[in-house]
Amino acid sequence: MRLPFIITKYNPELEHAAHQETYRLAVSRGMTVLDALIRIKNELDGRVTFRYSCRSAICGSCAMTINGSEKLACRTSIRKEWERHGKIDIAPLRHLPILKDLAVDMAGFWSKTRAVTPWLGGDSSSDHGLPVMPDAYQFHNVDACIMCGACVAACTSHEADQGFLGPAALAKAYRFIADPRESRAAKTARLAVLERPTGIWDCTRCNFCVQVCPKDVQPMEAIIRLRRAAIEAGFTQTGGARHVLGFKQLVARFGRLNEAIMPLKVVGLHLTRLAQIMPLGIRMLLKGKVPNPLHPPIQGVEHVRRILTRPTRGGPV
Ligand code: SF4
Ligand code: SF4
Ligand code: FES
Repeated sequence: MRLPFIITKYNPELEHAAHQETYRLAVSRGMTVLDALIRIKNELDGRVTFRYSCRSAICGSCAMTINGSEKLACRTSIRKEWERHGKIDIAPLRHLPILKDLAVDMAGFWSKTRAVTPWLGGDSSSDHGLPVMPDAYQFHNVDACIMCGACVAACTSHEADQGFLGPAALAKAYRFIADPRESRAAKTARLAVLERPTGIWDCTRCNFCVQVCPKDVQPMEAIIRLRRAAIEAGFTQTGGARHVLGFKQLVARFGRLNEAIMPLKVVGLHLTRLAQIMPLGIRMLLKGKVPNPLHPPIQGVEHVRRILTRPTRGGPV
């Protein structure tokens, strides 16, 4: 069967904008998108540019946008894409600078990885002075990352602010927070860096990084664990930390969120910042979204409190 492959092409040195070209190729059973790209390059257009190496979903170099979603070309079945979308549309990873066609510049990705200090800090022994080799489960699979960049391309926060450290780098940072061989002081220093603007509190929890990751790393879950670790380490003054703690306090007190008090919990008595959120508060009030700040707790609030005080499961932090 011959299928059309729509490939986004762009040479920034020669062209002002990207364009699409369609190549028709006879495909056979079991072919992947990477197989097709290699054949297109060998048989139809030697200028088509893309990266690959292992062809086995190990090296992470063939991540691209296939039918609108970030995927590894070497493990994406042409048949399944065609059955699902009725087309094979191949473009570079989004929100990363294009070097040529499907090859993007990963320099920013790597500099963010370096920015989270991806090695053990402090002395490499436990707090008891005994060397400990952690079991794999303690990392919650973040060590399975192949650094493909798919999660960063899909990240809504990175789309809005490309200074955001991003899901891959933050998942990498969690790997060291989870590692019992890193000293407590080193973990605290690491969290102090991660809680700054462009760090853990800039994630919008959209879950796209989890959806596109080919290795089930679940970067958003790692970021949530980093937030929990930061709060437990005493980093409680960022807007994000105050929001989490304020939310929990209100639910513990009333059994539900109280939107009338929440802004005070987040920004405190900071008049300028209160004035900034005032228009939103007024709009919510007019729509009937602001409850009486003095309303009594809901019926059965003690059940909610029991949930909140139940120990959390599933992780070292
Ligand atoms: S959950 Fe957070 S890190 Fe993941 S894609 Fe969304 S904003 Fe980015
Ligand atoms: S977390 Fe997943 S999607 Fe992100 S770089 Fe690692 S393997 Fe790729
Ligand atoms: S070629 Fe290595 S992950 Fe696809």
